[in-house]
Amino acid sequence: MLKINNLHAGYGKVHVLQGISIEVPKGKVVTLIGSNGAGKTTTMRAISGMIKPLAGEITLANQRIDGMESNEIAKRGLAHSPEGRRVFATMTVTDNLLLGAFPRLTGSRPKGNVPADLERALELFPRLKERREQLAGTLSGGEQQMLAMARAVMLNPEVILLDEPSMGLAPILVEEVFKIISRLKSEGVTMLLVEQFAAAALNVADYGYVLENGSITVHGPAKDLLHDPAVAAAYLGGSH
Ligand SMILES: Nc1ncnc2c1ncn2[C@@H]1O[C@H](COP(=O)(O)OP(=O)(O)O)[C@@H](O)[C@H]1O
Ligand SMILES: [Mg+2]
Repeated sequence: MLKINNLHAGYGKVHVLQGISIEVPKGKVVTLIGSNGAGKTTTMRAISGMIKPLAGEITLANQRIDGMESNEIAKRGLAHSPEGRRVFATMTVTDNLLLGAFPRLTGSRPKGNVPADLERALELFPRLKERREQLAGTLSGGEQQMLAMARAVMLNPEVILLDEPSMGLAPILVEEVFKIISRLKSEGVTMLLVEQFAAAALNVADYGYVLENGSITVHGPAKDLLHDPAVAAAYLGGSH
């Protein structure tokens, strides 16, 4: 579904990604693990067109998307739930969610039934359902994070990029986020997941990649990585 081949990307003179290759098959959950500053967010930004790759190819459903503007990439069905809480603070929860569906209305993908999808998204995120008419800026941090995720789901995307969906959340909300990821997976949603809780991410994922200083050093089935002593020592210790 999503294929990244020999991707290089960075910021100005800072060359972050040194030629990485990642594959996210249809219906699978793939996780990208790495320390702070390894380049996980940069990878997601390069895939969704927030920054332009320096080299390499990215294909979504066999179409090249590298070099395209981010709105074009979204129209082709790639949803990005970015790190941090990027919601439209002065709009309601419902309007934020409807905006998430906008790229599919203007692109060539099936337009679907937006009101029905809105109800489905609200069922998936009950906290948002209770607050559907509330202004997004007045939600708690955790609720805003969920709104960013729910907005990505509203695209009915081919692939969702989830960048640290549990960042800064209370433990009970972290659990809820992982339950939602499992539920989306069981519905066949294809995802690339970056998570500080690497063990939990590997438990929900089918396959994993370890990113160190902008290069992939290890990859394999998630179950194998969970039991890999080097991966466990570096990424699955104590707090995870
Ligand atoms: N906007 C930016 N401008 C310059 N350097 C950046 C920018 N964003 C991130 N970086 C640098 O790129 C590297 C990778 O960062 P990032 O992709 O955010 O890592 P991760 O998400 O794995 O923690 C870091 O060295 C970081 O300082
Ligand atoms: Mg990051």
